[in-house]
Amino acid sequence: MSKVKSTYVCQSCGAQTSKWMGKCTTCGEWNTIEEEIISDSQPSIVSKVLEKNGQPENSVYLSDVEVGRIKRIISSDNELNRVLGGGIVPGSLVLVGGEPGIGKSTLLLQMALRTASMRFLYVSGEESGEQIKMRADRIGQDNHEVLLYSGTKVEDILAQTKKVSANFLIVDSIQTIRTALIDSAPGTITQIRECTHLLQQFAKQSNIPVFIIGHITKEGVIAGPKLLEHIVDVVLQFEGDSHYDNRILRSIKNRFGSIAELGIYEMHPNGLSEVENPSEILFTKRDEPVAGVAIASMVEGARAFIIEIQALVTSSVYGNPQRSATGFDTKRLNMLLAVLEKRCGFQIGDKDIFLNVAGGLKLKDTATDLAVLAALISSFNNYPLPLKVAFCGEVSLTGEIRPVNSIDLRINEVQKLGFEKIYCSKNVSSQWKGVSPVHNIADLVYQMRSM
Ligand code: TYD
Ligand code: MG
Repeated sequence: MSKVKSTYVCQSCGAQTSKWMGKCTTCGEWNTIEEEIISDSQPSIVSKVLEKNGQPENSVYLSDVEVGRIKRIISSDNELNRVLGGGIVPGSLVLVGGEPGIGKSTLLLQMALRTASMRFLYVSGEESGEQIKMRADRIGQDNHEVLLYSGTKVEDILAQTKKVSANFLIVDSIQTIRTALIDSAPGTITQIRECTHLLQQFAKQSNIPVFIIGHITKEGVIAGPKLLEHIVDVVLQFEGDSHYDNRILRSIKNRFGSIAELGIYEMHPNGLSEVENPSEILFTKRDEPVAGVAIASMVEGARAFIIEIQALVTSSVYGNPQRSATGFDTKRLNMLLAVLEKRCGFQIGDKDIFLNVAGGLKLKDTATDLAVLAALISSFNNYPLPLKVAFCGEVSLTGEIRPVNSIDLRINEVQKLGFEKIYCSKNVSSQWKGVSPVHNIADLVYQMRSM
């Protein structure tokens, strides 16, 4: 008889307790603990499906392991290949997270439809075959090697993959599938964790790459928070702003490559298109300069691009001045404002301040500090910056401009796009044409008067 165990699991952080509680003692959330039933005695379906001869494999000497044997699968999507570190590693488990409607299903379906010489099994627990076909029609591609399956039981999905001899599995989404090993509903922490474990074992044993789609919660974490990140090999986040067509594919964890790489796409009525030259879509070419706009040069992975920072500094109408930033860390904005006030005497305590990074990008590169300050000062003084000027430097608490990494990449990109001057830290070698050193913020304010 199967042994039935029940456990209480926090749906927010995954912590387990032996009894129900109103508040999770691990993450402090209220009303998140639910009972989940686990039946213990069923054998793992993965070993059943993939049983070879029942014998465990022997261990090998590390020195005997041959490297270079792994041949990455080069998909049709160059941005995806780049973010994964040069293609898809066979047997890897990749989680693609993102808000609903951002384009996760489109991204993976499009990759499957356009990649030749692989047989894909696309499992959808969310949409009917008809809906997926409509999406494929929009993308405008047909591929006889893409098979659809609408089952939601992991056991069936794995058996189906084997049955149709698929060598690529896509699961859309992890929140809709379940395993018979656990009685709780699909989407609960225990189900998500167990299904991911099974898919991980399957990927490793069969050497088939498995991509799973995961929705992110309001707080921006993939449901089943950090739990999944430990299990999977790669975590990709698909981001974007619904007001823009730009989509960004970012790697948060990658066991096979750098996490600094970024993939950039544009959503069109007929699918996603790769953006090879991001600078061209990330900043608006203007004929007339506008106050409050400054151009920064940022680096992600091995690529530099130019982005537009927009600032608005106005007198506050309400008692509490607002500080709001889109695409930029609000804490860092507050720090820069404090430095501006303390080191240059700007009276901004009673101003509403808004900062926006054009194109829906989220900046993590501190080299954009200088451009943020330039945009703020420009808006404060209502004095536009010249069109062909860019900024690149980190600002310290002392108000000094610090040097940044990959300066040659940044300067090259700026010059490629026809900018004539780039303001940088004084440490940047003067061998570069058009580089203008800035010592500290006071110096920036002084130089901006004659720009
Ligand atoms: P979808 O892939 O369904 O998002 P997710 O799987 O992340 O929930 O994409 C949904 C949005 O993308 C939807 O608003 C329509 C839009 N879209 C296009 O603009 N062009 C297209 O070619 C496709 C397929 C979708
Ligand atoms: Mg979807």
